[in-house]
Amino acid sequence: MRINVNQNENVNGTLILPFWQGSGTLSDEESTGIHRALKKQIDTVIEDQDFKGKLGSTMTLRGTEGGKAILVGLGKKDESSTEKMRNAGASVISMRKASHGTELSLRSNDLSADELSIFVEGMMLRNYDYDEYITVTDEDKDDSEISLEVTCSEEMIESVTHSIQRMKQITSGVHLARDLGNCPPNDLYPMAYAQKALDWAKNHDHVNVNIITYEEALSQGMGGLVGVGMGSERKPCMVIFEINPNQPGPSPCIIGKGITFDTGGISIKPSPKMDEMKYDMHGSATVFGLMKALVETGWGERVIGIACMAENMPSANAQRPGDVIKTYSGKTVEVLNTDAEGRLVLADGLWKSGELNVEYIIDLATLTGAVVVALGHEASGMWTNDETLGNRLHQAGKDCDELIWPMPLLPQFEKEMTDSKIADVRNLGAGRAGGSNTAAAFLKQFVPNGHDGEKQIPWAHLDIAGTAWGASSNKLVNHGATGIHVRTLHHLITNGN
Ligand code: BES
Ligand code: MN
Ligand code: ZN
Repeated sequence: MRINVNQNENVNGTLILPFWQGSGTLSDEESTGIHRALKKQIDTVIEDQDFKGKLGSTMTLRGTEGGKAILVGLGKKDESSTEKMRNAGASVISMRKASHGTELSLRSNDLSADELSIFVEGMMLRNYDYDEYITVTDEDKDDSEISLEVTCSEEMIESVTHSIQRMKQITSGVHLARDLGNCPPNDLYPMAYAQKALDWAKNHDHVNVNIITYEEALSQGMGGLVGVGMGSERKPCMVIFEINPNQPGPSPCIIGKGITFDTGGISIKPSPKMDEMKYDMHGSATVFGLMKALVETGWGERVIGIACMAENMPSANAQRPGDVIKTYSGKTVEVLNTDAEGRLVLADGLWKSGELNVEYIIDLATLTGAVVVALGHEASGMWTNDETLGNRLHQAGKDCDELIWPMPLLPQFEKEMTDSKIADVRNLGAGRAGGSNTAAAFLKQFVPNGHDGEKQIPWAHLDIAGTAWGASSNKLVNHGATGIHVRTLHHLITNGN
């Protein structure tokens, strides 16, 4: 999407008109540049209350002369929020038809610089299709790039231009995360992800990408990653990103679960919706998208990303329920269910982070179906060993309208996961109860200690199984991967609070 912010009062292409509920017809000043015939139509639908400006409503007007307009309801001004404003922007893109053309002019009547920018952010985020694999052209779709003219007062131009530019850079990271999430699992396997990371790093200074291959993982004793990945022809790997490697640490470290396909392994899943398990690498997709967002916005400090990549397949070489594996930390795990695999690859990623001079650790994982039962698709669950980090993360999610909800990391759950008769830790809870809590308690066993050697590094775990895809209430995406928490984590890392 090409965007230009100016004072130009001419309307090119289709006019986009955000409209507060209950505000009257356009003043003369607000209607400069709008063709009289179109202006008359706009006045009529507002006067007749055919269009009231209700939140979520849109209306297309097409004059015989004078062009087209899309009216966008913003709801009541005193009930406005960033989320409503962003979604209103997104609704323009979701209802846009080929007949509206690709030239759009956005009028900002009555919007502040922040409101206007967030409206445009919604348009940018929603302006995404995953059509890489579609070879048959659809005549009703116009795939050419949208060109948007944003009109605002002279005083606002600078700040709006700046915010939109930054949001565009961050959006490119969100869209990358969606691309990775949506990519079919026959094409996106562990080493394919690694190759994409290497290719990306090659084109940027101040970015290192280091791959721990299957052979290296084997020789280094990464039994979690190896155990999960060894049943597949496409071998597992760990991808380590380092942004601004020459800057001093300790640095934020973001770790992602990257199961490029989760069949369940020998504890095989039932067929319905198994295709959705291609999204089981969304944690790693968010990590890569975040790295891109940080680089695009010119972030100058050191940040670490770790993607734990594996394909969980049943085969003659797959791990079995009953196996005991030795993780990178040295702790042994009794594998009671091969479908509880995310925690095994993360155990090694978490332990690896202890070697990399990190300030805090956040992992993201489509870890449990249980978190979807608990929170639906409206929030990611969060477990943490550090209240300050938890509060910051909760606030960052709120600021970006990507909700993060605190969940309990209780000693009882840890006890449940460490009472295996034959190993240090078990990978399955004793029963089904509290399945996402026991999973988090498992992960905590692999969080390394800080420099003093006594206390664990501040760590938070995000279970994104409900938010990474399939959230019909997420208006920023049509279908498929959402790119969840690229924006949240970018905000958390860069805002300094
Ligand atoms: N990737 C799944 C979790 C998942 C399932 C996410 C459905 C989204 C939708 C994970 O690897 C898994 O299979 N978890 C099991 C854990 C169980 C075996 C303890 C689950 O949630 O059933
Ligand atoms: Mn699984
Ligand atoms: Zn999984």
